[in-house]
Amino acid sequence: MITVVGGTKGGSGKSTVATNLAIMLAGAGRDVLLVDADDQETSTDFTNLREANRPGGAGYTCVALTGAAVRTGVQRLAPKHEHVVIDTGGRDTISQRAALSICDIYLVPFAPRSFDVWTLDKVAELVEEARTINPDLKAFAFINRADPRGSENAEAAEMLKSKPAFTFIPTTLGTRKAFGAAAATGLGVVELRPQDPKATEEIQALYGYLFDTAKTSSTNPAGV
Ligand SMILES: Nc1ncnc2c1ncn2[C@@H]1O[C@H](COP(=O)(O)OP(=O)(O)OP(=O)(O)O)[C@@H](O)[C@H]1O
Ligand SMILES: [Mg+2]
Repeated sequence: MITVVGGTKGGSGKSTVATNLAIMLAGAGRDVLLVDADDQETSTDFTNLREANRPGGAGYTCVALTGAAVRTGVQRLAPKHEHVVIDTGGRDTISQRAALSICDIYLVPFAPRSFDVWTLDKVAELVEEARTINPDLKAFAFINRADPRGSENAEAAEMLKSKPAFTFIPTTLGTRKAFGAAAATGLGVVELRPQDPKATEEIQALYGYLFDTAKTSSTNPAGV
């Protein structure tokens, strides 16, 4: 199973989501490969910090790949792992297209702000293009960094729902300090103490939507 966390907007939460999902999958006993396909190397830096802080190591394997090597490298390494999670950069790079060409799931976080949602058409085009060579690709969009109040969340949700290229995930991650606080110490938000119950519940809901095999196909559209 290969999951790409992508999109063309910087700072939407790709690395936050990719690292948290990798940690949660590993925590559930899966053999996980986290691929850092962004030359900013956020996931690599995070994993180095995590390894330094945890006697047992990160709990997953992390490799950095760029450009066409994202395709060839992941094709070579994926059979050795149960789950591959790819963190892509915030631009339409060769790496992102390479990741899209071989993944099962493409997961795109959107912040409910105009500049972010304006990239939706571009990302939908990338998905349609990728489906010509990867027809089974499942693409999901969800709201990250939701506003605590106001109408922007609902407006962004309507925009995301209107795009046939994506399945809209109704689970939202709020703007919560716990995500940054956990990342700063090499932890997933579910591992942070004291725990932020809302952040934990939200990331668990996203994880459950994507990966909970106990669920029926109607509540687990990724079918994994
Ligand atoms: N739900 C959230 N609540 C609060 N802060 C968040 C949330 N999601 C992400 N952030 C913060 O926003 C910043 C950008 O997040 P992140 O690095 O995950 O984005 P990115 O999409 O990977 O960025 P880039 O495009 O540069 O790779 C980080 O400081 C992160 O801690
Ligand atoms: Mg990133």
